[in-house]
Amino acid sequence: MLKDLSVNFGNFLLSFSDAIDIANSQIASHQIRTAFIAWEIAKASGIPKERIENLFVASLFHDIGALSLEEKIKIHNFDGNYLAGNNLEDHCILGEYLFETCSLFAPAKTIVRYHHKPWRLWGTIDRPEAFDSQILCLADYLERKINRNQYILYQVDGVKKAASKTSGKLINKDIVELFFEISGREEFWLDLSSPRLYSVLLHSGPFRGREIDYENIFPIASLFRSTIDFKSRFTATHSTGVAECAVMLSKIFGLSESEIEQMELAGYFHDLGKLAVPNSILEKPDKLTNDEFAVIKQHTYYTYSVLNTIGGLNNIAEWAAFHHEKIDGSGYPFHVGAQKINTGSRIMAVADIFTALAEDRPYRKRMEREQIQTILKSQVSNNVLDKKIVNLLIENFEEISSTVTEKQLLSRELFEMKIASYKNIISHRI
Ligand SMILES: [Fe+2]
Ligand SMILES: [Fe+2]
Ligand SMILES: [Fe+2]
Repeated sequence: MLKDLSVNFGNFLLSFSDAIDIANSQIASHQIRTAFIAWEIAKASGIPKERIENLFVASLFHDIGALSLEEKIKIHNFDGNYLAGNNLEDHCILGEYLFETCSLFAPAKTIVRYHHKPWRLWGTIDRPEAFDSQILCLADYLERKINRNQYILYQVDGVKKAASKTSGKLINKDIVELFFEISGREEFWLDLSSPRLYSVLLHSGPFRGREIDYENIFPIASLFRSTIDFKSRFTATHSTGVAECAVMLSKIFGLSESEIEQMELAGYFHDLGKLAVPNSILEKPDKLTNDEFAVIKQHTYYTYSVLNTIGGLNNIAEWAAFHHEKIDGSGYPFHVGAQKINTGSRIMAVADIFTALAEDRPYRKRMEREQIQTILKSQVSNNVLDKKIVNLLIENFEEISSTVTEKQLLSRELFEMKIASYKNIISHRI
């Protein structure tokens, strides 16, 4: 077990929250900014520390159930009647489910579930879940009112007016009052809109100085893996498969136990940057245009920049992010050649291609063993993939292939049961 792996908890959470919102300037840092507002209101309310921490986690990932970039933007721009229909409810239900899968996040799941529930439907503020959900509801609502292209202090009156309008309708009046209390200081607004808000929360936020070890990283990593994979039916089990294949290849190759565990995490995170790619590109049934492919190229850049800035995950960052690099240096986006692609990254590149070829894609069906092996061998001759690793895969093809498929079937069941039906509802409604 990776007893020595320790990561700053706040940095880990902030980085992933940031990664989810990174793709679009309209929603950039929405969840971090919402978490800041909610945290300030929560402190002013005097609720216990544990509840403030749960509210902060819920706020940082409150829209995690909006799986595609398109859904996120639509929810962000929603300004309709909260009571009419339940356009907003699907991502709350999925968010609750995703939180439930991770023990560290589970205590915050109810806040996520009800973060758009209007005050008029609560009727009482005495229950903690009502109070905390209402704080998040207001924080989210107000953050979305802020114009990112205008100086923040010019907007204070407008945002306060918007808060007043919610009082007693969308939001309980006591919570709106708490917001007025904290928003009297210019400092609040300047922090909120500062490009340095991430650092502010890292050094003064609820989890400053808190470290987590591998045992606690793992369940959160699994939750993020689901968020990355469940974006699309085609990739719903991809990172599960890649991680399993990479782990098996690492064992056969003879990597240490600690390296194998890091490899599993790297597999979970390798396509993290795909959170920044719209589904219209990920699910396009035809060949991508050059412009569309240019958008795809940013995904491993973001994988690297998110993981590498957390600190303590350097190996994982490289192994995860170099999976489209090629031995001859012609890959993307780093163009590192043979000398800089180490064994872990070589294993990940083979695991990624093998898993992708064995999966359906919008533009082709999954491939059979012979076709996969032919492609892998040609990639070796073309100086794309590592010869030794490809040979290990081919020699152990049956065992690797069946174990990967088995793992993927479990994820597929979960996806079909819990996610797929909501995805249909979401795409029809919004
Ligand atoms: Fe939301
Ligand atoms: Fe939101
Ligand atoms: Fe990729």
